[in-house]
Amino acid sequence: MSIVGNITPNDYEKFKSFLEKASGIMLGDGKQYLISSRLTRLLRDEGISSVSELLNALQRDQPHYLRDLVIDAMTTNETSWFRDRSPFDALINDVFPEWDKNGMRQYKIWSAACSSGQEPYTISMALSEYLASTTIKNLASMSIMATDISASMLVDAKRAEYDEGVLGRGLSSERKQQFFKPNAGRWLVADNIKRRVSFKEQNLLSSYDVLGNFDAIFCRNVLIYFTAERRSDILNRMASVLNPGGFLFLGASETVTGYSDAFEMIRSSSGVYYRLKD
Ligand SMILES: C[S@@+](CC[C@H](N)C(=O)[O-])C[C@H]1O[C@@H](n2cnc3c(N)ncnc32)[C@H](O)[C@@H]1O
Repeated sequence: MSIVGNITPNDYEKFKSFLEKASGIMLGDGKQYLISSRLTRLLRDEGISSVSELLNALQRDQPHYLRDLVIDAMTTNETSWFRDRSPFDALINDVFPEWDKNGMRQYKIWSAACSSGQEPYTISMALSEYLASTTIKNLASMSIMATDISASMLVDAKRAEYDEGVLGRGLSSERKQQFFKPNAGRWLVADNIKRRVSFKEQNLLSSYDVLGNFDAIFCRNVLIYFTAERRSDILNRMASVLNPGGFLFLGASETVTGYSDAFEMIRSSSGVYYRLKD
């Protein structure tokens, strides 16, 4: 069943507005096909026959059961291990050595749109690689808080079990042997990597007060879906939960320029990232 033919221009505008308010995600013009490809199965499962009916159901929806399913289906969860390499090189070559020199402290990193877990687990792997290369062990108690708006992505992330094809996206065979153990045809993230990571549902549009403060934030490949106003708001609120001198890592096509004055750009041999201004 295709519902695309049934989406009137008015319903498309209403759906766009619902999605933007609920998740920050902006659907451009002419993206009716995305609604069709991503929501057809959900609408069928819920016995809903058109976008118009869905919009009515969303208005009655308490406590947001349908809203969460729609957001889940509409988000892009694309991710991979050591994605773009440079942020993880920067952790190993620049950030971890600097923190290590500062002495013993409980450092905290936030992976703010963690999808199915590859980003926070990669940060943990980068830490293990760094610890193996140094005699200073001040960072041994570092922790990683991983959050996402998508409940189903968080279930996958917490399970920490991936198939061969998923592992093939960004992991060398050495890292696979080092950081995973085989389990009935699938691969489990090793306990020492998993132990540092905790997960929590968090909409980037909501308050960050309950999360505490961080020494670095990874907010990668999610701001691109938001309006300029939302990007500014999110970046400025992230600045307010970063400890002095804290770091910010964005996706390869994302920038703070034009959205927030709270950060200075760092260009190191590992790549470009940001530091909270004094
Ligand atoms: C393309 S993935 C990026 C994953 C990872 N950061 C990376 O770079 O590989 C985008 C993630 O952002 C999440 N997301 C979208 N809107 C969000 C919001 N308002 N709050 C929190 N997470 C959101 C999606 O559920 C998805 O898992």
